[in-house]
Parts: sequence; structure tokens; C-alpha cells
Amino acid sequence: MTAIRVLGISGSLRHESFNTALLRTAGTLVPEGMALTVQLLHDIPLYNGDVEAAGLPAGVVALREAIRTADGVLIATPEYNNSMPGVLKNAIDWVSRGKDQPLAGKPLALVSASNGGFGGARAQLAWMPTLTVLGARWMHRPQFYLSNAQQAFAPDGSLVDERTREKLRGLLASFAAWCGEKASV
Ligand code: FNR
Repeated sequence: MTAIRVLGISGSLRHESFNTALLRTAGTLVPEGMALTVQLLHDIPLYNGDVEAAGLPAGVVALREAIRTADGVLIATPEYNNSMPGVLKNAIDWVSRGKDQPLAGKPLALVSASNGGFGGARAQLAWMPTLTVLGARWMHRPQFYLSNAQQAFAPDGSLVDERTREKLRGLLASFAAWCGEKASV
């Protein structure tokens, strides 16, 4: 029986995205009792208060529900110009609207993959103000940054380096425990 259901959200729309590939690999490395599904953001329109006033778009409703029903959220964030990408920030901004925003108290972890040498570390840091105000229960450690991602994946999208896979496995094991713990208020 799967006890812990994790929603993996990729912040990239690119078909061959390293961040999406990272989440798909994570899905194969989860500990026993955890299942990870990957959510893409192609159905999320640009935030517009007029659209919101007419009713949340279907893609936003679905994303909010997916977050609400998950035991934890694992976000794979690309890094754009030393910060988070607009596509992902836009999705989280939509999710934050309305009553009962589903990231409040939600166990959450971040991973990142980038072409650069810092592996998206600056993007992860850039998420701090947003995740703080939304009250997500962010697991800060262990950290996972995949640098030089263009060299890290096999043609089938799997992570090549066993030490990197082991690191990701370790993060997922820690996250299983994190999702299982009750939030202290
Ligand atoms: C980048 N990239 C990038 N990489 C990085 O390590 N630090 C950065 O500041 C930036 N800035 C940046 C800006 C913009 C507009 C783009 C399009 C790209 C490169 C980025 O890591 C690379 O495109 C990854 O492939 C993006 O992730 P996905 O799409 O592969 O998941």
C-alpha cells in the first residue's frame, strides 16, 4: 500500500527539460511506501485578476486539488537569471489565490537542475520569501542541486551518475519522514 503520495511539480515546460527528467528519475528512486506523480504546468494560464474574478481556470483548480490531496510536494525548479522561472512562479501565484490555499502547512522540498555550475542553488534560495509567506513546511536539508545537467542524463532521461542517484534517493528518504511528521504549530 502506498502511504505517502508526493506530487512532483516541474517548473519547466520544455519537452526535454532536465528538471522534469530529474522528477521522473526521482519517481524511480522513492523509498518503499512512497509514490511520486509528475505534474506539468502547460495548462496554467498567465495570472490575470480579471480571469480569476470570472472563476479559477480548470488547470488551476486541478493543480490546487492535486496539491491539496498530496501528502507532500516536490518542486523541481529551473534557474533563470539567478532566480526562479516565471512559469513556476506564475503557477504558485495562481495556487495561492482563494480560500484554503493548499500549500499552507504542506510538506515541501525543492530540487533543481541547471546547465550552470551552481545547479540552480540561487533559484532555490529565491523561493524563500514565497514559500515562507504561503506557510509551506519546507524541508531545507538535505539539499539537492544538479549542476551541468546537460551531461547528467542518458538519452532515455535517466540520471547516469550513481552517486547523484544516491543523493536523490537520500533526499527522498528524508522527505518520506518529513511528510510523515505532523506540523508543529
Ligand atoms: C537560463 N539558464 C540558467 N542556468 C543557471 O544555472 N543560472 C541562470 O541564472 C540561468 N539563467 C537562464 C535564463 C534563461 C532565460 C534561460 C532560458 C536559461 C540555463 C538553464 O539552467 C537551462 O536552460 C536549463 O536547461 C533549464 O531547465 P530545464 O528547462 O532543462 O528544466
